[in-house]
Amino acid sequence: MQSYGIKALLEKGKDLLLQEVVVNGWVRAFRSNRFIALNDGSTINNIQVVVDFENFDESIIKQISTAASLQIKGEVVESEGAGQEIEIVAKEIKVLGTASSEDLKGTILQPKQHSLEILREQAHLRFRTNVFAATMRVRNALMFGIHKYFNENGFVYINTPIITGSDAEGAGEMFHITNLDMENLPKNEEGKVDYTQDFFGKSTNLTVSGQLEGETAAMGLGKIYTFGPTFRAENSNTSRHLAEFWMIEPEVAFFRLDQNMDLAEDFMKSVISYAMETCKDDLKFLAERFDKEQKQKPEAERSELGLMERLEYVLNNKFIRLSYTEAIDILKESKPNKKGKFKYPIEGWGADLQSEHERYLVEKHFKTPVILFDYPAEIKAFYMRMNDDGKTVRAMDVLFPGIGEIIGGSEREERLEVLDEKMEKFGIDKEELWWYRDTRRFGSVPHSGFGLGLERLVLFVTGMGNIRDVIPFPRTPNNAEF
Ligand code: 4AD
Ligand code: MG
Repeated sequence: MQSYGIKALLEKGKDLLLQEVVVNGWVRAFRSNRFIALNDGSTINNIQVVVDFENFDESIIKQISTAASLQIKGEVVESEGAGQEIEIVAKEIKVLGTASSEDLKGTILQPKQHSLEILREQAHLRFRTNVFAATMRVRNALMFGIHKYFNENGFVYINTPIITGSDAEGAGEMFHITNLDMENLPKNEEGKVDYTQDFFGKSTNLTVSGQLEGETAAMGLGKIYTFGPTFRAENSNTSRHLAEFWMIEPEVAFFRLDQNMDLAEDFMKSVISYAMETCKDDLKFLAERFDKEQKQKPEAERSELGLMERLEYVLNNKFIRLSYTEAIDILKESKPNKKGKFKYPIEGWGADLQSEHERYLVEKHFKTPVILFDYPAEIKAFYMRMNDDGKTVRAMDVLFPGIGEIIGGSEREERLEVLDEKMEKFGIDKEELWWYRDTRRFGSVPHSGFGLGLERLVLFVTGMGNIRDVIPFPRTPNNAEF
């Protein structure tokens, strides 16, 4: 007897009529002591199992309840009910694990509407819910689509270290790594912690970005990408920030900024379209959820497009490319700025853009993804290439509707003397980064790259509103449960 996953079984559909099959799954619902909706996580759709109770011991029927796990042997028949082609008439039912109604009380497995906040508190159980399982399958498709894109385009996948001594972004938002005895720290002559006695013989932290090491790899392999966990101790409790997130960072030798923008646009469109092709059922479900949620929002915050239309829109439109200086002009003259509606009013050139400004440009002004470039040097990282104006750097941020910044990148400063000057200005230890400086000493070339936050991409594609709901176990300020 052939065993099937539910996705495969439903795909074969009527080809399996009158065959005996085995399926495993969890009970989503048991109606009228006769119809089981069974799900195994392979798809958002359930298979209906019909139980003729005269054929089974009452003791078995009694154990069939929401959340119980079953192995069913039965015959595939045409379904008379609406919504499904086939169903299974049970011949044998093996209860693998029961779930008592007493134990279910207070859990998100009880069949009723639970808020996303409650789901988060029971993150170990939320894989069983439609909304979270669908999100996780879409996340999986996006990750696979990312590897597929780079693989097909000649990029080498590089693993950069998670433990490092450097702060690539220079923002000082690092988690310290040590195995020193915190209750009894060794001190040096100056009375400071003596890191020479620490595990690595120096002070280390969790990486905020694999870029610097990625650049060294691109200087030999040409086109590389990294894809790993990234850690930031920024204390921003927003729906867009995690303390632990996954970042994809391509780095390409010989690329200038315009080629970097072309890559980012082509890459995003390709990955999104891969998820749309491979996750149709999940996205249909998520789109319905998105629509319902939009209706509950105040009109000003509502998305003009449904989820699928928004995805199509990104695929079918060219991303607008706009300099920071032009963006500031637009923002300065914008209605919300003049009416004092921005939390951070735009007074003039040099201001760092906040999420509210990014979203205004994308959602209200252009209504399409925007790539902003040539930012003031002061508000961007030390490694970005200085423009001839001596004021701006070849930075680029890709801004998406509903998200704001989804990608940050740049052309890199490949001229050692300019880089050195910049490091001094930013107070970055040249000795510490001797290996990074070396890449500018032996055949330095123009090169560019960017970083995509995986969870922000998952937010965009699934239409979910909070970044905590698109990663299995979120890490945020005051939260490291599970
Ligand atoms: O703009 P960021 O800080 O750029 C870098 O780290 C560069 N080293 C990338 C590069 O050029 N190779 O971060 C890149 C992206 C952001 O655009 C955002 O999508 C995501 O990473 N990101 C976060 N996602 C979730 N939580 C956070 N705290 C994030 N911080 C950044
Ligand atoms: Mg950024």
